[in-house]
Amino acid sequence: MYWRLFSLVVASILLLSSSCEKKVEKPECTNCPIDETIQGIYNPTPFTLEAPQYLGQAIIPEDNPMTEQGIELGRRLFYDPILSIDSTQACASCHQAEHSFSDPLAKSVGVTGATGKRNAMPLVNLAFNPNGFFWDGRRASLEEQALDPVEDHLEMNDTWENVEKKLRRHSDYPLRFRQAFGIEKKPEITKELVVKALAQFERTMISANADFDKVFLRAERFPTDAEQRGKLLFFFEPSDNFDNHPGCSHCHGGQHLTDFSFRNNGLDDVGDLADFEDLGRGGVNNNRFDNGKFRVPSLRNVALTAPYMHDGRFQTLEEVLDSYAAGGHGVLNEDANIRAFPLTEQQKMDLVVFMESFTDTSFIQNPAFQNPFK
Ligand code: HEC
Ligand code: HEC
Repeated sequence: MYWRLFSLVVASILLLSSSCEKKVEKPECTNCPIDETIQGIYNPTPFTLEAPQYLGQAIIPEDNPMTEQGIELGRRLFYDPILSIDSTQACASCHQAEHSFSDPLAKSVGVTGATGKRNAMPLVNLAFNPNGFFWDGRRASLEEQALDPVEDHLEMNDTWENVEKKLRRHSDYPLRFRQAFGIEKKPEITKELVVKALAQFERTMISANADFDKVFLRAERFPTDAEQRGKLLFFFEPSDNFDNHPGCSHCHGGQHLTDFSFRNNGLDDVGDLADFEDLGRGGVNNNRFDNGKFRVPSLRNVALTAPYMHDGRFQTLEEVLDSYAAGGHGVLNEDANIRAFPLTEQQKMDLVVFMESFTDTSFIQNPAFQNPFK
């Protein structure tokens, strides 16, 4: 009797526990495998960069061929504040189309409100720069360059890990990454692909339709008198009187209006080469003689990119000209072409008119470079 009761109790306990077990076994979805597969077709359209021959050969890395889909993705990323920690700042916040993709502030302000160290550079004809990006040339390619702003504390102040997470979760980007790069799963969205897309977009930003192109490089019309006088001053290369000419073309010559070299153009008066506030190129290669040297900037669209120089110290082109006309400060590594020269008001105006001929409004208004979210 007792035995029977005992076995009944045991049996029911067993039964109960087994039903319990069943409950526990039922999948509690805490770590469910979500579907990481990206649905969509990968069939990219190759893109041929078009530019006049005189601009030379565009530099396109072999592992980042341009496609319509890659460029469009890059444009979106360029204008999307998703790349910044609090989703308030995009590349385009500091690289504004109407200023030839530069910043009208002398020094850009990042997401934290802190001020950066240098003037944001215009983005124009970057595909042709063989000599490193940033004022000091510290990044060899556009892909490498684009890795920096996201994690720069004075700029977007995010982490790549977090940005990758945001993009993988996004409703639109995974498909675009698949269409551009053929990836199959969301975790394959990485910073390497983000910067490839950005670089593809940036390589399309070509300006070759300024009056400078039409008049002086393609001879489609005659220059105005002021343009012609300005040009002669800018490109004046006397063999006998080295001291008396502006010499702009020594450094800003050619179709790119720069030779892409690193030079000290005589802005700062320092007693010792270690005393430059911003070491520029010397800060990259630790060569003391390169302290205070910066990459000669292209002057394309220069009338739209004030303020001027790496620190935005000059507000107007007239101020820039006054600085050059005054000559340098005799600092040891100042370039030999920085010499005082006489400059009448008329000559100053002519040089400004000539520099205004570098403005390409069809470039800054090109629909392909505008904000796709508007
Ligand atoms: C907070 C403002 C700011 C943001 C945001 C920003 N930049 Fe810049 N950018 C700058 C400044 C300032 C420089 C020059 C810095 C230096 O020389 O050290 C620069 C330089 C560059 C250059 C070098 C151009 C040349 O001729 O060498 C490129 C290219 C560029 N930025 C692209 C980007 C891209 C792409 C993004 C978005 C991922 C971005 N920037 C976001 C301010 C900004
Ligand atoms: C020795 C080489 C050299 C010569 C000669 C020279 N420049 Fe420059 N130029 C530079 C360098 C280097 C910079 C950038 C310096 C910096 O930011 O610290 C610069 C910057 C500029 C800028 C500012 C561009 C910007 O985006 O901020 C303008 C404008 C300019 N130069 C015009 C001229 C004109 C006009 C002449 C002739 C009167 C001239 N330059 C002669 C090397 C030169």
